[in-house]
Amino acid sequence: MCGIVGYIGHRSAADVVLKGLKRLEYRGYDSAGLAHIDGGVVIAKTKGKVAALDKLVTDRTATLGLGHTRWATHGEPNDVNAHPHTGGDRAFALVHNGIIENYDVLKRQLLAQGHVFDGETDTEVLAHLIEEVHRVSGGEFENAVRMALQQVTGTFGIAIVHRDFPDTLFAARRGSPLLVGVGEHEFFVASDASPIIEYTQHVVYLDDDEMVVITRNGYEVKTIRNVPITKAVHQLALSLEQIEKGGYPHFMLKEIHEQPRAIADCLRGRLLVDEHRIQLGGLEPVMDKLLVAKRICIAACGTSWHSGLVGEYLIEGLARIPVEVAYASEFRYNDPLIGPEDVLIVISQSGETADTLAALREAKAKGATVIGVVNVVGSTIARETDAGVYIHAGPEIGVASTKAFTAQVTVLTMIALMLAERKKTLPAARLKQLIRDLHDIPAKIADILARDAEIAELAKVFTYAPNFLYLGRSYNFPVALEGALKLKEISYIHAEGYPAAEMKHGPIALIDQHMPVVVLATSDHVNDKMVSNIEEVRARKGRIIAVTTPGNDAVLNLAEFAVTVPETDDALSPLLTVIPLQLLSYHIAINRKCDVDQPRNLAKSVTVE
Ligand code: F6R
Repeated sequence: MCGIVGYIGHRSAADVVLKGLKRLEYRGYDSAGLAHIDGGVVIAKTKGKVAALDKLVTDRTATLGLGHTRWATHGEPNDVNAHPHTGGDRAFALVHNGIIENYDVLKRQLLAQGHVFDGETDTEVLAHLIEEVHRVSGGEFENAVRMALQQVTGTFGIAIVHRDFPDTLFAARRGSPLLVGVGEHEFFVASDASPIIEYTQHVVYLDDDEMVVITRNGYEVKTIRNVPITKAVHQLALSLEQIEKGGYPHFMLKEIHEQPRAIADCLRGRLLVDEHRIQLGGLEPVMDKLLVAKRICIAACGTSWHSGLVGEYLIEGLARIPVEVAYASEFRYNDPLIGPEDVLIVISQSGETADTLAALREAKAKGATVIGVVNVVGSTIARETDAGVYIHAGPEIGVASTKAFTAQVTVLTMIALMLAERKKTLPAARLKQLIRDLHDIPAKIADILARDAEIAELAKVFTYAPNFLYLGRSYNFPVALEGALKLKEISYIHAEGYPAAEMKHGPIALIDQHMPVVVLATSDHVNDKMVSNIEEVRARKGRIIAVTTPGNDAVLNLAEFAVTVPETDDALSPLLTVIPLQLLSYHIAINRKCDVDQPRNLAKSVTVE
């Protein structure tokens, strides 16, 4: 959460920073601010989006500056709590992503030492702490920053400019992502690579407790305990085109429509149709462990947790290995029973989610082997896992996850099929057929997307429904959860997903003639049971919207509205049934004039616990 950009070089720092912040807005967008060095520290900040900040910045001549787009943790989003923050004498400006967990204790000490605070943020406390440490120690400013950072608990990605150092940009990280862009006589710091790709493809990823001091001639990385580090320079594989809307009105719609391409990319070189096998090179280092694992654990959050649930059905169903799926936030705090014999799969689009990262570290500390299923190349989770499979969905910028979900499920399907092949848990003919069916998924998704107009019409009927229920069984139960999450997060309609049979244990009390009930009822092994559940909804006059397969008359005859998806193997059906649900949510949210790419209160990369 929160996006940081810093610049030092020969361009207008304000232009680079503002443009960069717009690209980072997915990380938080309740307030924004910028500082540059022009004689002194000049700060502009405001509640609202980066566009509002842009209007405030008139002088754009300075070539050293930094900026921030905020997702509030401590203190409401307003002009005062917006970053950058300063100490009492306004000598420097600091932007921060993360949480200073001991800010309260530090603030009390600083108040006792005479510091006066303007707002309520933990970041302002850090700024005053640095100022105080510098005042007391009297040495180099960068050493004061180091010493102050040693006193904080929690997470930080920070950048600082100081009026006495018009040729220096300081940055450090613990827990929150930060990278350095290395250009020709210019340098950048940013929370991810999107603000810098038009200037340079060379980056250095900072690791925890590292600080970089950048001048116009170069940069130096040391730990916050002042130990010099030699860092590798990585080449980015990201293009500008990938992070632009490409003619679509919203990133979310673009990303929904990118799914055939994203899944084809994800399968490329891994799904060897003619050889009837799967090759996942990234898992080779841990293959022995994986093949003998008595159970596999999965930890993730949100949509990634939903794909983990699909993964559970896939790995148990196809490879016959017991799987446990945990919310990463619960896993980490419950002294998990995991050890050297176990394998943990962590799933994360961003690769930066704080709880998922903490689950990974907890499992590693207990000796488990950890595999990542991650989208963002070079992200912290990707770097800290023992092995992994990138989902290769390309940048996902819309806050609601769409293509990452289907690409994650695609990777989990490949893991399940690879294990099934090696452990011989599936008849050869079924394995062959599943591999062929998986190969056909991108074209089938394209087929559903071509019927977007049909779903847009359906959305008109239910735009103002206050509640929705989503029901599914087996492989489609997690899809019910995902459909409900997608709707609530972008349209603010209350929605719940349930295993269809659970409905009669409580939620059925909600059903009346006003309740839309989305049923995922393809012609699969639980179709008869779904039909019974649909009858139960119908008997209570619920409004049935079915996602089904062509010719499934038992369902089609009961539903008030139906969207069909092509036939596929039961195990692959989530890759198809989720598509109409994504589109339905999108169109309902648009009809309700919601900001689908940046829904209220949310952020794309949840780097706080
Ligand atoms: C929902 C959504 C979130 C994320 C969750 C985990 O549309 O995007 O629920 O899935 O915050 O994020 P990652 O996958 O980046 O770890």
